[in-house]
Amino acid sequence: MACKFTTLSLLLLSFSLAGSQLLRSDPDPGSTDCTGRWVHIRKLPSRFNLDLLANCSDYPVYDNFCPYLTNHGLGQKTHNRSHSWYRTDPFMLELLFHRRILEYPCLTSNPSGADAIYLPYFAGIDALRFLYGVDVNSSAEHGLQLLEFLQHDSPHIWGRNGGHDHFLVMARPAWDFSQPLSNDPPIWGTSFLELPEFFNVTALTLESRAWPWQEHAIPYPTSFHPHNLALLESWFDRVRRSQRTTLMVFAGGGGVSSAPNIRHSIRAECQNSTTRSNPSFKACEIVDCSNGVCEHDPIRYMKPMLQSRFCLQPPGETPSRRSTFDGILAGCIPVFFEEQSAKSQFGWHLPEEQYGEFSVFIPKEEVVLKGLRILDVLMAIPRADVRRMREKVIEMMPRIMYRRHGSSLGLRSKKDAFDLAVEGSIHRIKSRLTT
Ligand SMILES: *[C@@H]1O[C@H](CO)[C@@H](O)[C@H](O)[C@H]1NC(C)=O
Ligand SMILES: *[C@@H]1O[C@H](CO)[C@@H](O)[C@H](O)[C@H]1NC(C)=O
Ligand SMILES: *[C@@H]1O[C@H](CO)[C@@H](O)[C@H](O)[C@H]1NC(C)=O
Ligand SMILES: *[C@@H]1O[C@H](CO)[C@@H](O)[C@H](O)[C@H]1NC(C)=O
Ligand SMILES: *[C@@H]1O[C@H](CO)[C@@H](O)[C@H](O)[C@H]1NC(C)=O
Repeated sequence: MACKFTTLSLLLLSFSLAGSQLLRSDPDPGSTDCTGRWVHIRKLPSRFNLDLLANCSDYPVYDNFCPYLTNHGLGQKTHNRSHSWYRTDPFMLELLFHRRILEYPCLTSNPSGADAIYLPYFAGIDALRFLYGVDVNSSAEHGLQLLEFLQHDSPHIWGRNGGHDHFLVMARPAWDFSQPLSNDPPIWGTSFLELPEFFNVTALTLESRAWPWQEHAIPYPTSFHPHNLALLESWFDRVRRSQRTTLMVFAGGGGVSSAPNIRHSIRAECQNSTTRSNPSFKACEIVDCSNGVCEHDPIRYMKPMLQSRFCLQPPGETPSRRSTFDGILAGCIPVFFEEQSAKSQFGWHLPEEQYGEFSVFIPKEEVVLKGLRILDVLMAIPRADVRRMREKVIEMMPRIMYRRHGSSLGLRSKKDAFDLAVEGSIHRIKSRLTT
């Protein structure tokens, strides 16, 4: 472990040095129009980011997340010869976002000339000590140290726009950061998003609340991080060529108790359908992902998703799920059971008005309470429509994936999840400041 950790520190050190060099040199002015898109990376003491990684093995209740830190948060490659596939932990988004913003073309070292100010704070990783660690009873304090710093170190940067021009990534559902300050002891979560001092800041979370004010959801990272156009295009080919011999797949856990809920209905329907015999076409498949067995093992679910026409995306512990993005990557048409699962969440990446073109919506009440069969709904969709929807899913794919840092120029010309997140943040900041 000690040896592993040294390699990691070296890796991170070289990455922060590379970053400061990038910051000093001016971006290439010829190729990019940076008007209205300048970002300043606020310099924070390392206790707000890199130091936090040193405790990656301190949270046994959670998991030892040291292996997921490698490759700037992409994790280890799935196998040695893999070019694009990693064992990515979605909660490491703060790291990979940080790495990616170092190569954003419109960085400025001058905060007063910036349209947006990025806080390289690993908020979700810092939250672990409140969620699972020694500070579990002081979760109202999450964010206070950062606030202290912002208010006292060059306070004009923070004060200039009342915090409106600042943004940061908080790579967990907003639910984990919205514990009311009045709950003592806390029930679950820290109170970062409840602190009035941070109300004006744009927080990029993996899931937003039903009526969010300061947060906006961005895609969960998947395991696919290509670094050039050829790799992306060969994946497109694989997805298009794939024989889809299963109608629908559900990759997830839960729904095993008999309490009526949508996951239970899916399991029941699937068990019924598998008793039918048609060897060349399967109606339904369940990939058992209970106890987190799929989390860092994309092969388990990508293959079944490539072989299915539809991917069922019921709400889990929270409404949204990473699997929505894995499915899109596989060209598998998502089936949603509530709007909170995606439509009301990821508008920057999956435009709301296009849901009808790339996804199916079946209200969960119809299934759970009224006995509507998912199978019947999906079987009734004409083949031509299925093909059209799949093409639309494939068209969405670059928008929801996070390409690897240091990608080729060709791949950089396609906007990925990171690009759209920065663009969305800047746009949102601008609209806040002009109203
Ligand atoms: C890491 O854990 C140690 C021991 O629990 C603690 O003293 C230290 O403050 C932690 N470091 C960070 C950056 O959280
Ligand atoms: C993969 O690479 C590691 C380290 O480079 C090596 O130890 C291991 O034997 C390789 N595995 C295979 C299957 O080639
Ligand atoms: C937190 O508070 C609860 C109830 O007051 C107590 O049982 C528990 O030991 C405390 N945990 C820590 C880590 O202090
Ligand atoms: C948030 O912005 C509003 C103006 O939109 C300002 O009045 C308020 O003071 C700001 N809050 C903080 C904590 O700076
Ligand atoms: C499963 O099959 C049984 C017998 O055919 C039927 O009564 C039941 O409604 C079916 N359940 C579901 C969820 O389709």
